[in-house]
Amino acid sequence: MSLPTRQQTPEQVRAFFDAHRTVRHYRDEPMPQEHLDTILYAAQRAPTDATAQLYSFVRLSGDVKAKVAQLTTNAHIASAAESFVVCSDTRRVRQLVEAAGYAAGQSPAIDVHFGLGDAVLAGQNMLTAAEMLGYQGCWIGGVMNGLDEIITLLQLPPGVLPFAALTIGLSAEDTPHRPRLPRELVVHENAYRDPTPGELQAATRQMNPIAARPGKPGDWARLLNAYFGVGGSMAQREPVLEAALKRQGLWAEGSPAAEPLS
Ligand SMILES: Cc1cc2nc3c(=O)[nH]c(=O)nc-3n(C[C@H](O)[C@H](O)[C@H](O)COP(=O)(O)O)c2cc1C
Repeated sequence: MSLPTRQQTPEQVRAFFDAHRTVRHYRDEPMPQEHLDTILYAAQRAPTDATAQLYSFVRLSGDVKAKVAQLTTNAHIASAAESFVVCSDTRRVRQLVEAAGYAAGQSPAIDVHFGLGDAVLAGQNMLTAAEMLGYQGCWIGGVMNGLDEIITLLQLPPGVLPFAALTIGLSAEDTPHRPRLPRELVVHENAYRDPTPGELQAATRQMNPIAARPGKPGDWARLLNAYFGVGGSMAQREPVLEAALKRQGLWAEGSPAAEPLS
């Protein structure tokens, strides 16, 4: 039997998701406890691999919040009503296994795969619930800018890896509706299909406004190059993440992952 909350029209569902905006400037208003409880409840209602709930959220406040804002170079972590670091957590499940008297196995690559998947599902549930309550937010992959320091600051033990931060608050900005790729490029029918050069050009034109700045037309390819081009920020993050995976016992080859949790 379907529940009443599952009976929204296609137009209502589209309108809800159309109203999504990533927002980086927030009103200086705290989130009422009931709203905080609700978004955390929603997070934990996410589907979860192997029933295991392979995630932890670190809620930030005070000096730690300010420090994470600085380390991520995302100032809105400090100004948002609520800020979290969303982590993959494949530590607790092993503690549960061991607490029940079993021996915990080791599977670092699988841990990364399913732990990050679970963390994203739960974090996005939290953001969606917040948007249902009238808030907006921002995922912050900028944790990679200070990953090692953040692991130390938040005292994250082996098996726990930050995915991203998440800020939530009442919007104080007039945010544009940002485009997405044409659906044909992201939905494949039975088999993967590479786009044609013409489709890539058309897709880039469609996406250009996402890179626009006041008085400057958008150049999405240039933005993507800054991230994914040679020497771009993703290439710079690569050794940072590799080091963090090793530090947290999540590196499959020659890592301390083979050792029991300490
Ligand atoms: C995993 C992830 C990491 C992101 N990292 C950042 C970030 O570090 N800083 C930031 O300002 N926005 C960040 N964003 C927000 C994206 O820039 C934003 O979602 C995208 O431009 C699309 O805009 P929209 O969400 O308003 O449609 C991130 C989003 C995701 C999903």
